This record gives sequence, C-alpha cells and structure tokens, in this order.
Amino acid sequence: MRYRRLGRTGFHVSEIGYGAWGIGGTQWLGADDRESRLALRHAIDLGLNFIDTALAYGEGHSEELVGDVVREADHKIYVASKVPPKNQLWPARPGIPIAEVFPYDHIMQSTERSLKNLKLDTIDLQQLHVWNPEWIAREEWQRAFEDIKQTGKARAVGVSINDHQPDSALEIIKTGLIDSVQVIYNIFDQSPEKHLFPLALERDIGVIARVPLDEGALTGKIDQFTQFEPTDFRAKYFQGDRKKQVAERVAAIQRDLQLSNGGMPEVALRFCISHPAVSSVIPGMRTRANVDFNCSIPGKGPLPDKVIAILKKHAWERNFYGA
Ligand SMILES: NC(=O)c1ccc[n+]([C@@H]2O[C@H](COP(=O)([O-])OP(=O)(O)OC[C@H]3O[C@@H](n4cnc5c(N)ncnc54)[C@H](OP(=O)(O)O)[C@@H]3O)[C@@H](O)[C@H]2O)c1
Repeated sequence: MRYRRLGRTGFHVSEIGYGAWGIGGTQWLGADDRESRLALRHAIDLGLNFIDTALAYGEGHSEELVGDVVREADHKIYVASKVPPKNQLWPARPGIPIAEVFPYDHIMQSTERSLKNLKLDTIDLQQLHVWNPEWIAREEWQRAFEDIKQTGKARAVGVSINDHQPDSALEIIKTGLIDSVQVIYNIFDQSPEKHLFPLALERDIGVIARVPLDEGALTGKIDQFTQFEPTDFRAKYFQGDRKKQVAERVAAIQRDLQLSNGGMPEVALRFCISHPAVSSVIPGMRTRANVDFNCSIPGKGPLPDKVIAILKKHAWERNFYGA
C-alpha cells in the first residue's frame, strides 16, 4: 500500500480506500455481512486505512459494519461519513433552499446518529452528501461544520459533489471552510481535471475519487446480458441499452490498449491514482478477492503517460444517475 496526504487535514490515507456503499446492502443487493466484515478486515490487514461510508448506506448498516471492524483494528483507520440531505433528494436540485436540505439541527443530529452507528467518539471526516453552490453564503452549514469540529464530533469536513458537476464545488473550496471534496473521477468522467483538481492542489484540499469503476462498467464485466434485480440501484443505472453502450466503450478501450480480458479493473484504478490531486480512490468492494486485487494497485504505480494519452480519448460525457 502507498499513502498520500488528504490535503490540509494532514491525514496520511491509503491510495486505495474502501467504498462502503455496497456493503450497506439495501441499494446494492447481494451483500453478505459476514463476507463484508471479512473483506473490510482483509483490506485493513493489507494496509488500507481510509473508509468512506454514509448514514444513508443501508440506513446506518454500512456504518455499523465499518465501526465494528475499525474498533478492532490495531492501527489508525480514518473513517469518512456523510450527512444525508434532509429531503432525501440525490443529487441536490437547483432552487431548493438549504432549510429543506441541510438545516443546522439536521447536520448536528445526523452526525450524532452516525457516531452511534459507528460506536466511535469522532468521525475523521464528515461530509455533506450533496452540495448546491447556491448555499455558499448560508450560515447553516458553516456554523454546523464549525461546531462539529469544535466539539470533536468530526476532525475534518468536506462535501461530496453532485454527480458529474465538479465545478459546482469551486466556490466552496475558495471559502477555506472545507478540508476535502469527494468527486466522480474515472476513465469516462475526466472532467475534474479541468478546474477542480488544479484548485484543490493550489488550496491543499483533499480529493476523494469516487466511482472509479463507473458502478462496475469499467471492470469489463458488464454486457448486454448482465442482469440486476429490479430493486438493485444498478438496474436503473444500467437501464435500457446502457449495458450494451458501456460494453462497447470498454471494448474500444481494450482494443486501443491491447488489453487482455480481465485487464480493465487495473487500468481503471491506476488511471485514478495517476493524478497527483487525488488523495484516495475508493472502489466499492464486497469480497476479499476484490480487496486483494484493488489493494495491489498502488504497488503498480501510475500509468505511463502514453497510456494516459490514449485514455484521454475515451472520456464520455453522460449522466446515468439522472432519469
Ligand atoms: N454521492 C456520493 O457521495 C457517492 C455516490 C456513489 C458512490 N460513493 C462512494 O464511492 C464508492 C465507490 O463507488 P461505487 O461502489 O458506487 O462504485 P465503483 O467503485 O465504481 O464500482 C463498484 C463495483 O465494482 C466491483 N469491483 C470492485 N473491485 C473490482 C475488481 N477488482 N474486479 C472486478 N470488479 C470489482 C464491485 O464488485 P462487488 O459488487 O462484488 O462489490 C462493484 O460491483 C462507494 O462505495 C461510496 O463509498 C459516493
């Protein structure tokens, strides 16, 4: 494992962190608590020390599993969690006032609930689960962030940026009131490289790269015949002919890179760690086999420049989260 600074927090976090959405089990079907615990423990044994969870993941279940494993760990594990929007709307919609989404009391109470689920005294990084730049001057989030830090309920604060809208966090970074951002960054969505990453580097803001495998598409294992249970989040994400679309895109990447079958997860994760602004990449992983593989990625290092240049051409602008 290798480690990087999470911006000005000074936390030294593993280049591969643990995306703990899937283990929450309600939005992603097929999670098995016993295997999830073993996978988390195995990741920690391999040097992973950063876990991203949220109150919303399985309504606290992901936090409970994470807390169980972190409390037993023999070295420091950094836990990041998130305050869900009070109106339960992902992503944040323009025009909806902060009073409906992140009133002060909601941020404080959600943080307390997360601490209870985790059974920890402090959350290393507390994030707002959505962000709308219209709220920039509002005191609700500013005062709540100040208070959770001052009371020690969280050590650092940040925002998880709306899907595919990296520039919507530029202004909040400039306030100097947050320590990190969490953003979609993968071979298909390279847009954070344009403005967000240079600003994060300039202001020493931690960057958590989420959805590095495009919800599984960039593993190369999804094709037109892949089936998801109707209530699994991925049934909607990969609805209609989207599975065919992603399979064609992935096949094009494999052709251009002369990759054999099975080579995609490595390229997808190494792509993310190749950017110096990225502090930690957080693939979702629910099995020890995926943990083993993903934790070996830092040892392989960044991709060569010529591979990055080829991958530049495979950026793909679209939003499968909407509609
Ligand atoms: N709004 C937000 O703040 C937000 C939104 C989305 C995600 N996130 C965070 O980002 C994390 C990552 O995103 P994600 O989990 O949605 O998607 P992801 O990391 O892009 O993809 C996860 C999928 O990839 C599979 N996978 C992982 N490693 C693999 C490997 N080595 N080989 C083959 N398949 C592999 C997983 O398999 P299994 O199914 O077997 O586990 C899972 O199906 C989340 O867990 C969460 O912490 C935050």
